Amino acid sequence: MTAVRTALVLAGGRGTRLLPLTARTPKPMLPFCGASLVAGMVRRLVPHGVDHVVLAVGADAAPFAPLAAELAGDGVSVEVATEPEPLDTAGGARLALRGRDRPVLVLNGDVLTDLDVGALLARHAAEEADVTLALTRVEDTSAFGVCLLDGVRITGFVEKPAPGTLPGHDTVNAGTYVLGPGVLDGFPDGPLSFERTVFPGLLAAGRRIVGHVATGVWSDLGTPERLLDGQRTVLSGAVAWPPLADVPATADGVRVAAGARVDPDAVLRGPVLVGPGAVVAAGAVVGPDVVLARGVEVESGARVEDAAVGPGSRIGADAVVRRALLGSDVTVGPGAVVADLAVLADGERFGA
Ligand code: GDD
Ligand code: MG
Repeated sequence: MTAVRTALVLAGGRGTRLLPLTARTPKPMLPFCGASLVAGMVRRLVPHGVDHVVLAVGADAAPFAPLAAELAGDGVSVEVATEPEPLDTAGGARLALRGRDRPVLVLNGDVLTDLDVGALLARHAAEEADVTLALTRVEDTSAFGVCLLDGVRITGFVEKPAPGTLPGHDTVNAGTYVLGPGVLDGFPDGPLSFERTVFPGLLAAGRRIVGHVATGVWSDLGTPERLLDGQRTVLSGAVAWPPLADVPATADGVRVAAGARVDPDAVLRGPVLVGPGAVVAAGAVVGPDVVLARGVEVESGARVEDAAVGPGSRIGADAVVRRALLGSDVTVGPGAVVADLAVLADGERFGA
């Protein structure tokens, strides 16, 4: 088994498909089922020996500051590496990993998976690979990086193929890799892409790249629809998600964090997570498939279903929030309706 203590998380993307949620909060720091997305991802790695995370971020480290406290309880230290200009995936990784000569786990910062990381590390060691990629099978490969396979060996990479152009190839890069030491040496300075340059370049140089096909839950959370569907997956229990497990559930899947106040005349329909300090008033109905982050207030008669409500947001009396994503400190006015994959930006006042 390859011993890996460092996880590198790629976190410098612009999160364009999740705007305006990502206008101020980078995608990996979006609140997701009880913690930031990246905190939940990294906590899954702790049982496999990871105790240090390096974040390859854009120019601004500030939004990532809360992560250290989120991971301190698990004994994971956090290092944030900024890049003066976007260096693309491998360019960012190379800068952040400078001087390290041990294998690392590399994660895209927006993937929800129940991947068995132990099995991935074991495969990397058993195959004596230079790089081992977790792969997943998808029906439409056009938004992903297709990996052509010969047995366990990857023989080609086609990033974002036009729909229908690669019939018979459905295994795609699942955004988790084990990177052996030195594999980034020798590539030209400046922006560098794993998917378009490093992996194809390593193949051309005769290096051994192995694919580990995982069959469980896998989703890229990079769009509003997938983020909300991912939340539903976690709440259903299909993926172990440590921040959710921190809050005990009733038999009906209702989780109320310490310090939340739920009026006895409010209705919670599981699965639902009511975060610390949140307040749910009499006559409100919350759930199923809802996460109220820290300090959210739901007033009397409001209904919230299939929604992620960011910290400090307030949902007015008799308002309806259904299949929607709300950033932090959003106000939904009394009686307003927010639905159909609506996304409200941090601080937005809707119908108020
Ligand atoms: N540091 C840094 N610098 N990180 C970056 C940069 C950059 O310039 N550009 C992107 N990233 C980070 C993003 O924050 C994200 O965590 C990760 O790299 C991948 O970027 P996405 O924008 O999410 O890529 P994608 O979803 O279109 O495609 C990638 O992920 C798929 C699986 O979800 C590729 O790796 C595909 O091959 C793969 O199938
Ligand atoms: Mg992505």
